[in-house]
Amino acid sequence: MSTVLPFASPALAARLDAHATRLRSCAVRDLFGSDPRRYQALSVEAEGLLLDFSRQLLDRDAFADLVALAADSDVTAAAARLFAGDAVNNTEQRPALHVALRDPGGVPLLVAGTDIRALVAAERRRCRSFTAALRSGARVGATGRRFTDVINIGIGGSDLGPVMAVEALRSYAEPGVEAHFVSSVDGVQFADLAARLDPATTLVLVCSKTFTTTETLTNARLLRGWVAERLGEGAVPKHFAAVSVNETAMNEFGIGQDARFAMWDWVGGRYSMWSAIGLSIELAVGSAHFDALLAGAHSIDDHFRSAPPAGNLPLILGLLGVWNRNYLGCASHAVLPYDQRLHRLPAYLQQLSMESNGKRVRRDGRPVGWDTEPVLWGEPGSNGQHSFFQLLHQGTAAVSLDLLLPACSSVGLPESQNLAAANCLAQAEAFANGYRLADAERELRAKGLPPARVAGLAAHKVHPGNRPNSILAFERLDPATLGKLVALYEHKVFVESVIWDINPFDQWGVELGKRLADELAPAVRGELRLSGRPGTQALLDRLAAWREAPSRR
Ligand code: F6P
Repeated sequence: MSTVLPFASPALAARLDAHATRLRSCAVRDLFGSDPRRYQALSVEAEGLLLDFSRQLLDRDAFADLVALAADSDVTAAAARLFAGDAVNNTEQRPALHVALRDPGGVPLLVAGTDIRALVAAERRRCRSFTAALRSGARVGATGRRFTDVINIGIGGSDLGPVMAVEALRSYAEPGVEAHFVSSVDGVQFADLAARLDPATTLVLVCSKTFTTTETLTNARLLRGWVAERLGEGAVPKHFAAVSVNETAMNEFGIGQDARFAMWDWVGGRYSMWSAIGLSIELAVGSAHFDALLAGAHSIDDHFRSAPPAGNLPLILGLLGVWNRNYLGCASHAVLPYDQRLHRLPAYLQQLSMESNGKRVRRDGRPVGWDTEPVLWGEPGSNGQHSFFQLLHQGTAAVSLDLLLPACSSVGLPESQNLAAANCLAQAEAFANGYRLADAERELRAKGLPPARVAGLAAHKVHPGNRPNSILAFERLDPATLGKLVALYEHKVFVESVIWDINPFDQWGVELGKRLADELAPAVRGELRLSGRPGTQALLDRLAAWREAPSRR
């Protein structure tokens, strides 16, 4: 794939290529040596977030030209169109106005002639009073008992944001209501929860923008049956709430008018945790914390629109993404939080990044001639260090890394967080600086190993270094900071999409599999045999045989 990106002038493209060629033969440790103020030049602190990208394989000149790439790509104008409500999702002919969900006011914002600020504010008020009623006991279940548990049913954007945030903000949970999540179509999560929760004290929140998603509807029907069987059919309206654009489907399901919340076409699923889709978060942590989450995200929106490019966090994060992907060949990007509370953040970012920018055609449908989104993955760093970090340090894959580091413990254990921080910083140094052959040999000789053993072992101890990594540090993982982190990554993804000339707001690539699953379901049940699909039918025959004659246990 070409390194020439669509909007870079020929002169800039040539300079960026030259930087990449030059830097590939440099060592990050030497770049620190040759620029005593490297950390100051290649780190930015704003809105309570500190992005230290001094361990990237980058120098001031290359960074300046990456900033120029953003200018050539007109990222600022594209951001203005996003915030103004232009139909930036061109294939679906819609705006993508998730930013309006966390914007407390300002001038009216019209979508198809309607001021959506008024709609957003009204729905926020409804969510707040629903939360208050549920938490105070003003709204109770069919038997008159208070709700103690909420089950959010949804998948993709109707699940990942709420799960991630509820986990991240456990230290801010308000007692009284616990949130649970059911997403997977296999029924496992439903079965586990049904076995331990009491329907009399459980509210089921069906979150589906479309209300047509098979996984969500299947689980909603299972939970409807669970409630109806235990409490009677009449209990269903009292125990179900829903968030969707699809009024008809909510009517058919029997969702009461006072328990349904609006979503809008102009909010993408993976950008929707700020809407009523976040109701399970609000129920778990309370409205004040949810408002702080929104305010945190809004502060990054303002920062993204107003900060100068060289100090603009989302812009820099996006440029680093482009640099590592297109110029340094990183086909994979790992997110490694040093706070266990963020254990679902990588999964959340997977959808955000890969469903948004995992594309192979440009906005006008022509094929791209450059690489787009890398595979994103990750785990809390502390655990990862004892497993896949081996590959990160010494494997052959080129992986770029974000290490997330709170200064303060999420659980009031400062010494534990000190150790987490020491590990995070140690890993960042090791990734960047590596460990040279000469150092390994010296270490082994100092241990008294015979020369033959030193020669045999030293190569195995070499860490090549130059693993591009950034540290994203902040004071503590509170609701506002979580909002900032998520908005930061949202805009990072947007910046990349502009530079790659792709639409980050559609997701046609998830449709084919859904259609095939619908077609195959009757064949799996044995209601029909497939013709012209011998491989799949052979597998189905084997599954059927296992079902008919289960092995004895
Ligand atoms: O299948 C992908 C997808 O459409 C995601 O984009 C979306 O977040 C998810 O399914 C759930 O969709 P819905 O909220 O309409 O059930």
